Amino acid sequence: SLSHTQTPATALPAAEVLTLDTMNPNIKRVEYAVRGPIVQRAMQLEKELQEGVKKPFTEVIKANIGDCHAMGQQPITFFRQVLALCSYPELLNDNKFPEDAKDRARRILQACGGGSIGAYSASQGIELVRQDVSRYIVRRDGGVPSNPDNIYLSTGASDAIATMLKLLVSGEGPTRTGVMISIPQYPLYSAALADLGAIQINYYLDESNNWSLAVGELRRALEAARKHCNPRALCVINPGNPTGQVQSRQCIEDVIRFAAEENLFLMADEVYQDNVYAEGCQFHSFKKVLFEMGPKYSEKVELASFHSTSKCYMGECGFRGGYMEVINLDPAVKAQLTKLVSVRLCPPVPGQALLDLVVNPPQPDEPSYSTFMNERTAVLAALAEKARMTEEILNKVPGIRCNPVQGAMYSFPQIQIPHKAIEEAKKGQAPDMFYCMTLLDEMGICVVPGSGFGQRDGTYHFRMTILPPTDKLKIFLAKVKEFHQRFTERYS
Ligand SMILES: Cc1ncc(COP(=O)(O)O)c(C=O)c1O
Repeated sequence: SLSHTQTPATALPAAEVLTLDTMNPNIKRVEYAVRGPIVQRAMQLEKELQEGVKKPFTEVIKANIGDCHAMGQQPITFFRQVLALCSYPELLNDNKFPEDAKDRARRILQACGGGSIGAYSASQGIELVRQDVSRYIVRRDGGVPSNPDNIYLSTGASDAIATMLKLLVSGEGPTRTGVMISIPQYPLYSAALADLGAIQINYYLDESNNWSLAVGELRRALEAARKHCNPRALCVINPGNPTGQVQSRQCIEDVIRFAAEENLFLMADEVYQDNVYAEGCQFHSFKKVLFEMGPKYSEKVELASFHSTSKCYMGECGFRGGYMEVINLDPAVKAQLTKLVSVRLCPPVPGQALLDLVVNPPQPDEPSYSTFMNERTAVLAALAEKARMTEEILNKVPGIRCNPVQGAMYSFPQIQIPHKAIEEAKKGQAPDMFYCMTLLDEMGICVVPGSGFGQRDGTYHFRMTILPPTDKLKIFLAKVKEFHQRFTERYS
């Protein structure tokens, strides 16, 4: 009999099929700084601390990623009660759970295949949840209509954003699709565009004007890009990541007019819509402003807007819940979109259930209302306090300048790096990477270099989240201050 160890008559090819040279080159161009080398180093330092290695610090404080619960934010009780009931319906007989949580769980389970959140759902998402999302949007936008058919539930906002970009990208050479993204940007955008082999068109936010978005800059970027690609989409993040700005209504109107005139598909990333802290700032959805601009715009501009269960007061990143609403999408393309999402079967059903609670929270006449409101308000108030504190303390450090954190969960301060440090860094890495690595190694503080998000040439930044608990954030900011002074002296 033939043994499997027997050598075959003809020798097999020696080369591996999949190597760095033969793999998909687009994947090699993908970068994602918020989980990059800094974070790997931070994890290594944590491990060494655990093993008893002596360091100039006793813990690593991580402010590299907007992962709220990982930083100690507590989940909203009502959400977890309903999710527990949905996961283990036996608990519906347990009198520790409030009646409104039970009602909600029954309602969601009835909409699931076989009454179980373990069943696949429709690919676009559970119909009931899409209806609730639509009603939420109508309330949020002061009555502007929303159609559940235009809602696609997603695996976090990331998945919907990547899917929409996938639909948009086509052409070769000078006709290849270009997509306009803000710089600094959230690296999901550059990563998704690299993956798709699309052309990234950078427009710069105005740091000297609270990271605002100016139409003149959009026009400059667009005209430059038209020479080598076919710009077809414009992405806007509001409130901003990594820059923490909240756009004015006027600015949003200007952007919509620009998109209409230049025939661009608009993508509005609104995952931080409840995270607005600064006085005088308010969240305005692109959808609402679009409809307030009248039919000339609202019947023309193609818009996809995105929301998520990961941010705001929920911070439920791990559930991977989210939705997108599409407006004025060509019905034939919409059918293609529905086909595309059906290949992945469906977004996680627990994430859909959670999203349903976010868009349909306890009402004033329900038993869970007051606890829900207290918890929600406490989370947002703590974030507002930390936003203010971050700006105030950082701006007291000579050589660090930061704009107000008007919204979202981040600060993107500019740092002066001495010339000698830049020279030192250039032997192997970007100057701000050198700065952040040294900050990590000497202080146990983990932030992400500005180069991972994009910045004007010759300027340096880091991005930090405002998520560490208040007392820890205070220590964190004091350490940044101490380090910056020491680093500046060392290289002066
Ligand atoms: C601007 C922005 N968009 C999208 C996402 C993706 O979030 P998720 O996929 O968890 O919904 C994030 C996460 O940090 C973000 O900051």
